[in-house]
Amino acid sequence: MFRKLCNDRKVYHNLYDGEWVSSESGELIEIFSPVDGSSLGKIQSMTRDEVDRAIRSTKNNLETWAQMPIFERANIFYRTADILEEQAEHIAKILVMEIAKDHKSALSEVTRTADLLRYTADVGKSMEGEAISGENFPGGTRSKMSYVTRVPLGTVLAISPFNYPVNLSVSKIAPALIGGNAVILKPPTQGALSALHLAQAFNNAGLPKGILNTVTGRGSEIGDYIVTHPDIQFINFTGSTQVGRHISQLAGMIPMLLELGGKDAAIVLDDADLDFAAENIVAGAYSYSGQRCTAVKRILVPDTLADRLVERLKPRIEALEVGDPREDSVIVPLIDQKSADFVQGLVDSALRQGATLVTGNRREGNLLYPTLLDHVTTEMDIAWEEPFGPVLPVIRVKDLDEAIDIANRSEYGLQSSVFTRDINRAFYIANHLEVGTVQINNKTERGPDHFPFLGVKASGMGTQGVKYSIEAMTRPKAVVINLADPKAE
Ligand code: NAP
Ligand code: G3H
Repeated sequence: MFRKLCNDRKVYHNLYDGEWVSSESGELIEIFSPVDGSSLGKIQSMTRDEVDRAIRSTKNNLETWAQMPIFERANIFYRTADILEEQAEHIAKILVMEIAKDHKSALSEVTRTADLLRYTADVGKSMEGEAISGENFPGGTRSKMSYVTRVPLGTVLAISPFNYPVNLSVSKIAPALIGGNAVILKPPTQGALSALHLAQAFNNAGLPKGILNTVTGRGSEIGDYIVTHPDIQFINFTGSTQVGRHISQLAGMIPMLLELGGKDAAIVLDDADLDFAAENIVAGAYSYSGQRCTAVKRILVPDTLADRLVERLKPRIEALEVGDPREDSVIVPLIDQKSADFVQGLVDSALRQGATLVTGNRREGNLLYPTLLDHVTTEMDIAWEEPFGPVLPVIRVKDLDEAIDIANRSEYGLQSSVFTRDINRAFYIANHLEVGTVQINNKTERGPDHFPFLGVKASGMGTQGVKYSIEAMTRPKAVVINLADPKAE
């Protein structure tokens, strides 16, 4: 038993019942930095028994938490947000080394998370039930009244991805907790150190014991066990489509929210402000080396316009800072060698099939230089695969309808951008795209975090966003009051 998040040898522990504990497995997973290969710490590889105990503890403590008035739960969130802000620089530095996110974006991930906590607390406090009169329905009567409140589901399993280990953990934990649920957090292995610091902030803010427990270990080893655990009432997962599909097949009737991969298209029309479009597309495609579900992952542009767009993209891409996330480079080493190999494979194969290299295609280990490929055709894998790296294909189309057609032929349906000054064409396209969100004259992006955020097709199931997430992780509870006439015999 340890009382601290981590010891002097950088061995991290799990939050269990308000205490920091080590695993009886004695097995540790060492976390190395994708930036310089240095060892950052070790996390516990938990046993199934310990997972059981962690889940049981949430079950045992649920009732007390659910009974706590929402304004008191909200006060814990405000304190957690304050702690995160106080520790923002410290946690950002861990993020920089652990997931190679540039320092500015890492800091913004932490402060955005503090904002998200406060906003969720506020939304939680304004949640209200309703009373529905029976008289509204044919044959009904005013003496029948449904009194409807929202109640928690139980224990929510939150599984977050490596690219936002703090923010995409809180986007699950906060709405679950404010709705009265308890949470088991399974952080990404690469990202676990940052996520455990987040758990510490909740603990230090006074979250009662056993309401948030963490479970570390490789998803490939303990994942199936957790997602099929009978005491998990909801799964809130963000990650790859491959793992998301696997979880949904395994978990059967357990309700879930899945936020998965994407292949977001930027459609540029002939009346667009091309400099503005190029600026947005470059920021959208290459920030954090394209390791964002919402990164722009293909451009669909009329052939007649493509040369002019490409000539505006090229210098902007070449101006991107490449290298060290500690120095705020936009282009940073990818999370691991395997990911870099995958992206490189897509580029190589597109070039073999006749794509034109506009810029990039340089590599130093897992650091890939920002790459722009023109004349990409629908026969090439890069037209359809999510690279999760700094490579952007330009697909030339004959007209707007072909752009819509190719956009919709993707298995994914997260977001799309449309750049045009013509509101009628913008809405025409928006209405025909099979995606969760269409951005008109902006890069694709998730925030602000109270907007609905969702993917259709292979990009997900259910809707994230503060209010939407609270609704997803609570259910209506109806009590029907049947009044009798006190004057009747
Ligand atoms: P991933 O490999 O699918 O992993 C996501 C999480 O699932 C990690 O915590 C992982 O744990 C865990 N996991 C792995 N196998 C599991 C299993 N059998 N059961 C339960 N959990 C399991 O994804 P990633 O590489 O971290 O993230 C990149 C992907 O996420 C991209 O496809 C990206 O588009 C997507 N993403 C989507 C959104 C969105 O909101 N739509 C946001 C961010 C990322 P380990 O780390 O221990 O393997
Ligand atoms: O990686 C997926 C995230 O949900 C993207 O969030 O658009 O704020 O970077 P973002």
